[in-house]
Amino acid sequence: MKTLNVGLIGCGFMGRAHSNAHRKVANFFDLEYQPVLKAICDANAERAAAHAARWGFESVETDYRKLLARKDIDLVDICLPNNLHAEVAIAAAEAGKMILCEKPLARTGDEAEPMVAAVEKAGVPNFVSFNYRRIPAVTLAKQLIDEGRLGRIFHYRAKFLQDWTISKDLPQGGDALWRLDVKAAGSGVTGDLLAHCIDTALWLNGHVASVTAMTETFIKERKHNLTGKVEAVGIDDACAFLARFANGSLATFESTRYARGHKALYTFEINGEHASIAWDLHDLHRLSFFDHRDTGVVRGWRSIHVTDGDHPYMKHWWVPGLSIGFEHSFVHQLADFLNGIATGKPASPTFREGLGTQYVCDAVLKSAATGRWEQVKT
Ligand SMILES: NC(=O)c1ccc[n+]([C@@H]2O[C@H](COP(=O)([O-])OP(=O)(O)OC[C@H]3O[C@@H](n4cnc5c(N)ncnc54)[C@H](O)[C@@H]3O)[C@@H](O)[C@H]2O)c1
Repeated sequence: MKTLNVGLIGCGFMGRAHSNAHRKVANFFDLEYQPVLKAICDANAERAAAHAARWGFESVETDYRKLLARKDIDLVDICLPNNLHAEVAIAAAEAGKMILCEKPLARTGDEAEPMVAAVEKAGVPNFVSFNYRRIPAVTLAKQLIDEGRLGRIFHYRAKFLQDWTISKDLPQGGDALWRLDVKAAGSGVTGDLLAHCIDTALWLNGHVASVTAMTETFIKERKHNLTGKVEAVGIDDACAFLARFANGSLATFESTRYARGHKALYTFEINGEHASIAWDLHDLHRLSFFDHRDTGVVRGWRSIHVTDGDHPYMKHWWVPGLSIGFEHSFVHQLADFLNGIATGKPASPTFREGLGTQYVCDAVLKSAATGRWEQVKT
């Protein structure tokens, strides 16, 4: 097995999820390349040192430029707030590093385009961490659609609901709360949560042609953690949009951080001519499937427990019937990325594919501002 030296930047929520994936992937998947936890980098030196000790990174950096200048780093894993993705990814591509970048690729399509140009010019492997594709039940949905089991698709319905920003006393800016600061995040639920729903939808159902959207910012001002001042809130707290896919199907998407009682309810349902499928993140190892072609008396929604050896990814884990969870989707995407490097067939989504999601987000936010249907750039 060849080694691949990883330099991971940002050791918050995603830094932990990615470190876990780098540590586990070669234990469960047969790979040509094995990740080595060479360096962790975080602007917060204490946090970086603690992360290195806990996860077994060999060295610590506090300036990403120093990490990128190191000859012993092959793969740069970007787990930073959205406003830093472009700057770091472009510099990493220029330094000839392979790049794994957290989602969304950037704050806007305009910001993401030079990232795509940089990785393609450098010819370096690149990947965007839309991890929900790699939950086995979601991957199974893709297989069923690609096999033609649903037939012509009429409807796509997705939502991603949370409730953690309802308090007006919650500040914006800084660790984790950079999500409420439009300068750091680029947008609110659109880039943070709907980006996941859009990536899955593009993968399962193809190009989104046009959208019409509404957004709302329920709390207009919040104290900013970095300036200490009360500042206007620039993100969308909630967004709902209608979409027309290029294949003629109609869609509804909804996301909010104001759905009291919901912590991370990501669901989608797809209705086709012959069959329908539905998935729910709170029951992530199950895929609901209805096939109208079943014999009438036993026809009904079935709940497939996606844990068998012939289900996507599952033969790498335990015995049939035993479930896995959220963190495994990061192991799966890393295994696919590493296999892509070994075979020369890049794993999806690449930066170019991640740009497609960005264009849908751009059209959604534009439509919310203009009040009109907007075409999605291709
Ligand atoms: N795929 C998913 O399911 C998922 C889930 C959560 C977040 N994300 C994405 O992951 C990214 C990171 O989010 P998070 O939740 O881990 O954020 P976080 O706030 O938990 O962690 C960010 C880390 O980056 C560090 N940092 C900030 N500026 C830095 C700089 N200039 N140099 C070095 N380190 C710096 C911070 O100190 C912090 O430790 C975001 O793009 C977010 O959208 C993806």
